[in-house]
Amino acid sequence: MKRARITGIGKYVPENVVTNFDLEKIMDTSDTWIRERTGIAQRHWVTNPAVETVSTLGAEAAKRALDMAGLQPSDIDFIIFATLSPEHFFPGGGVFLQEKLGLEGIGALDIRNQCTGFIYGLSVADQFIRSGMYKNILLVGAEVHSTGIDKTTRGRDVAVLFGDGAGAAVISATDEKDCGILTTHLHADGKHAKHLWLQNPGSAQSPFVNEQMIADNSIYPYMNGRYVFKYAVTRFPEVIMEALQATGYSKNDVKLVIPHQANQRITEAVQQKLELPTEKVYSNIHNYGNTTAASIPIAMTDALQEGRFGENDLLVLAAFGSGFTWASAILRW
Ligand code: COA
Repeated sequence: MKRARITGIGKYVPENVVTNFDLEKIMDTSDTWIRERTGIAQRHWVTNPAVETVSTLGAEAAKRALDMAGLQPSDIDFIIFATLSPEHFFPGGGVFLQEKLGLEGIGALDIRNQCTGFIYGLSVADQFIRSGMYKNILLVGAEVHSTGIDKTTRGRDVAVLFGDGAGAAVISATDEKDCGILTTHLHADGKHAKHLWLQNPGSAQSPFVNEQMIADNSIYPYMNGRYVFKYAVTRFPEVIMEALQATGYSKNDVKLVIPHQANQRITEAVQQKLELPTEKVYSNIHNYGNTTAASIPIAMTDALQEGRFGENDLLVLAAFGSGFTWASAILRW
């Protein structure tokens, strides 16, 4: 049976950097509050949303991943696009990305799994490659949060957390054994959905979008921060242990855990619960904030460039987010 391995990885973030001090000028917050509660120092926010869309950011990240893989766009058989912030309600970002890369005709699958979107996508890619259906799959996670958050004091609990950006991976078939994606684990529990969600606009309302939604602020994301935190610090270690048990590897075999970058305090709590040394758990949230579906491929790209892992190293990926959904993967690089 074929195995799937990541042969290229890349990221792209908008040039515009927004520091915590910049946020102090537009809402009642402080650099100290944000750093202490989240570890975030800055994030990237688009300046021209008509041009800097999830598919344009995603296409740039994809080109870099393709370069690393040594492939042309025409080598790609299938696209998987993960985002919670598509440029339009439909069609999803996958077809816009496809057009930008000139990949007319191949399938483009959109997935809506928020912070776990990249790992869900990785699992889908793994199954397609193991079954022999595709040889090279492009998986993109991209978000433009900055146009959809309330950037006033009213929305500060959410607004300070999120950043824009994209990450991409090329996933290719290989005949080698014990390499590439070894295992993936996907979970969800919809009873928690309304603790982290965007209620409106949506087809549960008629008309789909109306003035009342704007007046009652339900066009902005709602987050029950403490509730999310409580579940995140339980589900992350659980799903990491599930993946380790499935492969028979121990924590000592792992070179680096790359968690979804939700919050530095969540990452530290996970590291402590699993009794892992700090250097085994990657963090770059200070530079980007939470970029949801893009955070793991951005973190993988940075960690690779920083020399935090290399050939044959065992990596653990894990994520938790809106849904709630949570997921993990183990791969040998
Ligand atoms: N700046 C300054 N003050 C803020 C603020 C901000 N950006 N956001 C909220 N506050 C205030 C609150 O209004 C509250 O004030 P009050 O005590 O006068 O009512 C105070 O800070 C404490 O708020 P609280 O919500 O209790 O803070 P917290 O310690 O729970 O931290 C989070 C808030 C959001 C950082 C924390 O709950 C968290 O990290 N949750 C998980 C979020 C997450 O990771 N989401 C994505 C999952 S993928």
